[in-house]
Amino acid sequence: MIFRTPLKTSRLILQPESISDFSRFYSMTIDPEVMKYIGDGSVFHWTESVAREKYQARIAGLHEQETGNLAVYRRDNNQYIGWCGIDESRFLRKIELSYRFCRDSWSCGYATEAARAMLAECFCITDIREIYACTHPENAASMAVLKKLGFVFSDPVFSKAINREMPVFVLHKDI
Ligand SMILES: CC(C)(COP(=O)(O)OP(=O)(O)OC[C@H]1O[C@@H](n2cnc3c(N)ncnc32)[C@H](O)[C@@H]1OP(=O)(O)O)[C@@H](O)C(=O)NCCC(=O)NCCS
Repeated sequence: MIFRTPLKTSRLILQPESISDFSRFYSMTIDPEVMKYIGDGSVFHWTESVAREKYQARIAGLHEQETGNLAVYRRDNNQYIGWCGIDESRFLRKIELSYRFCRDSWSCGYATEAARAMLAECFCITDIREIYACTHPENAASMAVLKKLGFVFSDPVFSKAINREMPVFVLHKDI
């Protein structure tokens, strides 16, 4: 992982994902409310044991120079609350910010706080000058996060998964 972890904010710690996060990670990804606006809206279809193996393999396969997802923990109780990532998107074919948080931690400002720290780190240590994000057109919470972070509209993309255009947003590095 290229990011200089742990990244710390006033309330959060961001660090590489660990297998000890798996149980909260898995609960998050089988929660229909969490997955409502991801892809075609279906929840994780893997059994817990298959999902655990895939999670472990993903963690083990991460190379030092790669961007990717960081697990997000609350500093006050060390609880895993979700992940935030910056990575090359196969769908957008651009560098993309994404995030997913457990429902019990929504609307506390955590996604915005975590993403802000990751964006700052990414702009600081890489040559990346613009980062994109894309949401389901009805995902008001995600669009609110992007607005708070300073993202602006870019060209929309068509999603076969939902058979609709999805809004795309971009954040340019301040010179
Ligand atoms: C999107 C998500 C990451 C936001 O996380 P979060 O920690 O709740 O985000 P924040 O608290 O930083 O900000 C959320 C903002 O959305 C607003 N919001 C929440 N639900 C909303 C809704 N239904 N309509 C409008 N605004 C809404 C909140 O009020 C808050 O804005 P405010 O600070 O101006 O009041 C979280 O809801 C999530 O994980 N959703 C499921 C996965 C997902 O959709 N990921 C994004 C894919 S593009």
